[in-house]
Amino acid sequence: GLRAMSPQDMAGQTVMVTLGPTREKWDGVRFWSNPSSGTMGASFAIAAWLRGAEVHAICGAGTPWLPGVITRHDVISAAEMYQAADSLWKDMSIGVFTAAVADYAPIPFGDSKFKKGGDDLTVSFTRTVDILKTLGNAKRDDQRVIGFAAETDNIHENVKKKLAAKNADIIVGNNVAKAGSGFGTATNEVCIVDRNGRQEDWPLAPKPEVAWRVFDWLLQL
Ligand code: CTP
Ligand code: CA
Repeated sequence: GLRAMSPQDMAGQTVMVTLGPTREKWDGVRFWSNPSSGTMGASFAIAAWLRGAEVHAICGAGTPWLPGVITRHDVISAAEMYQAADSLWKDMSIGVFTAAVADYAPIPFGDSKFKKGGDDLTVSFTRTVDILKTLGNAKRDDQRVIGFAAETDNIHENVKKKLAAKNADIIVGNNVAKAGSGFGTATNEVCIVDRNGRQEDWPLAPKPEVAWRVFDWLLQL
């Protein structure tokens, strides 16, 4: 099969991937979320499996089908995604954080349906836990962390800030303003920065190819 035809250069690795959007409940019938499709994360999960790794995928709401060889953990909210990731992390050698985690969650109205009234509605939000930052800063010497950065402006500057703040080995900067790149697309235009300060801009490429090359980069770090 395909796995037998792939280099087994990730054999013995245990890889955790977060992917897709989180969904933060507001009332009984409504939530706050984003258009992430989970495609980039699915590409990492499949690439790692093909290369011999054991793979755990922590899937946000609406993440698509994944091959059954990948252990799937379905979650809804940022809080649930953090719980799942935190409990797996100690047994993982590589974490890939591709999920579009909501930075804020609405303060819940409750389980009943909110009934409309006035012309305006104000909803308050509170910060969610930064999963990558928390686990990145708790990483052991034998663990590696790949994060993403969704940016519309000042990509290189923001990516370097995120590399440091999140204690990542690699940050993949994602131009989400560019056509064919970012949320819900089959392709991605990225820049890559690593902890040694090496940096490259990559041309638009299919997400499976981006994932494969990011792992190549990590294995050579
Ligand atoms: N991330 C996370 N948990 C969060 C927010 C982000 O794990 N609560 C991860 C994402 O999966 C991604 C990285 O952090 O790998 C960067 O996410 P991004 O949204 O680009 O950056 P933020 O740090 O959230 O900052 P901002 O949205 O303000 O740019
Ligand atoms: Ca964010």
